[in-house]
Amino acid sequence: MQSAMMMFSSKYWARRGLSLDSAVLGDYQYSNEPLNKLNTSKNEEKKTNKDNSKSEGAGESGKTSLVFSLKNEVGGLVKALNLFQEKHVNLVHIESRKSKRRNSEVDIFVDCECKKKEFNELVQLLKFHPDLISLTQPENIWTSKQEDLDGFPWFPRKISELDKCSHRVLMYGSELDADHPGFKDNVYRQRRKYFVDVAMSYKYGQPIPKVEYTAEEIKTWGTVFRELTKLYPTHACREYLKNLPLLIKYCGYREDNVPQLEDVSAFLKERSGFAVRPVAGYLSPRDFLAGLAYRVFHCTQYVRHGSDPLYTPEPDTCHELLGHVPLLADPKFAQFSQEIGLASLGASDDDVQKLATCYFFTIEFGLCKQDDQLRVYGAGLLSSIGELKHALSDKANVKPFDPKTTCKQECLITTFQEVYFVSESFEEAKESMREFAKTMKRPFSVHYNPYTQSIEMLKDTQSIESVVQDVRSELNTVCDALSKINKHLGI
Ligand SMILES: [Fe+2]
Repeated sequence: MQSAMMMFSSKYWARRGLSLDSAVLGDYQYSNEPLNKLNTSKNEEKKTNKDNSKSEGAGESGKTSLVFSLKNEVGGLVKALNLFQEKHVNLVHIESRKSKRRNSEVDIFVDCECKKKEFNELVQLLKFHPDLISLTQPENIWTSKQEDLDGFPWFPRKISELDKCSHRVLMYGSELDADHPGFKDNVYRQRRKYFVDVAMSYKYGQPIPKVEYTAEEIKTWGTVFRELTKLYPTHACREYLKNLPLLIKYCGYREDNVPQLEDVSAFLKERSGFAVRPVAGYLSPRDFLAGLAYRVFHCTQYVRHGSDPLYTPEPDTCHELLGHVPLLADPKFAQFSQEIGLASLGASDDDVQKLATCYFFTIEFGLCKQDDQLRVYGAGLLSSIGELKHALSDKANVKPFDPKTTCKQECLITTFQEVYFVSESFEEAKESMREFAKTMKRPFSVHYNPYTQSIEMLKDTQSIESVVQDVRSELNTVCDALSKINKHLGI
C-alpha cells in the first residue's frame, strides 16, 4: 500500500510516472506494431501540424497522453492508429499490454503531440471504434509548447494551481482490476464512482464535502482501527503516539466513526500547516510530490472492500487517516515531507523518480531509532498489520537511510519490502534529502513563500535578494529575542 501516487510498472511508464493500473507489477508487452513505420508517418504529420499551428496559434498545441482498451483482435490496434493519422495526431510513444481485467482485452498507452482541437476529434472517433472497451481521457494532462520553452517540466507556481495536478488522475478509483476484492461487486463500484465525482469536482479553497459513510464502510474502518491501534504502542514512533490521541479527541477517530477529511485538514493546518485534499485515484509522482511542496497531501476518501478489511491492494481512507495523518501533524515530519516536494519541482523525470523512491522508503515504509529501539513512521507499515509486525521483527533487513543508495532500491508493491531504511531523526532525514537535492541537475533553486503560498524561483540576484530580506527580518526577531533573554539572565 502506498499513497495516491502511482509507483512502478513498466520501466518507461515508471520513468514518466505514468501507468495503466494500480501499481501492480505486470508483464508488459511492447507493441508488435512497426514503430519505425509509425515514427516515419509521424514526422510527416508533424510537418503538417507545424504548418497548421501557424494559423491556429501555438497555445492550442501541446503534448498529452491517452489510455484506452481494445478487444484483443487482429487488426484492432491498426484501425485505432489509423484514426491518429487521420486526425494528424503525432504519436510520440506507444505501449501495449494484455489487460489485467480480462485476457481478451489489450490496454494501450500513447503519448501524443498535437493540437487540442484535433485531439478532441480523435477521442470522439475512438469512441466509435468497434473494438473499443474503455477510454481514459485524463483531463488537463497537457504540456503546452510554452512550458517546453521554459526548458524544464511545468510545476504549479501557486497553491491554487494544484487543482491542475489533483485532477490529472492517471487512473480513476472506480476502474478496478480483476483481482481487486470489489471487482465483481457492482454496488461497491458505483460507490467508488461517487468518490471519484467528489474528488474531481473539488477545487482549492472549497471545504471538503463531508461523506456519509455506510454501515458497512464504518464496520470495515472499525475493524482496521481496532486491530491496528493494538499494535501502535509497541510499534509506532513517539510522534505518532503523541498525535493519535489528539486526533481521537478532535477529529472523531473512533471505531464507530470514519473521520472526515475536512476536520482532519483543519487539525493539520493548526499543528503543522499541512492540509489534505481529496483525490480520485493515482497521480503521477511529479503531481503528487508537487502537493507536498505546498504542504498539501492528496488523500483518497473511499473505504476498502468489506470482504477483507485487513487487505487492500490500493491506498484507501484507512491508509491515509491511520497511516499518514498522525505523522503529518508533526512539524519536523511536515518539513521533511515538504523538502521532498520542493526538490521535485521542475526536476527531470529521472530525478523525480529518485525522489519518489526516497519518499516510498521513508514516508511510506520508513523506520526510525528512538530510545535505542526501532520504531515505525512509514504510513504503508502503520496501516498494514502484517507488515508492521514484520518490519520490526528479526526477519526484516534494515539499512541506514541514505538517499544516494535508497533511491536505487526496488519498491515492492504486492509483497513485504526486501529492505527497510532507518533514520536517526526526521531532522537528519531532512538534511540528507536536502544534500541529495543539491546533487540534482536543476538550473534554479526554489523558495516557498508561506504568506502567498507560492513558489519563487531563485535564478537571479533580484529573486535571491528578496529572500535574503525575509531571512534578515527573521534573524532580527531571533537576535532581539536572544538579547532580551541575555538581559534577563544578566549576561
Ligand atoms: Fe500512502
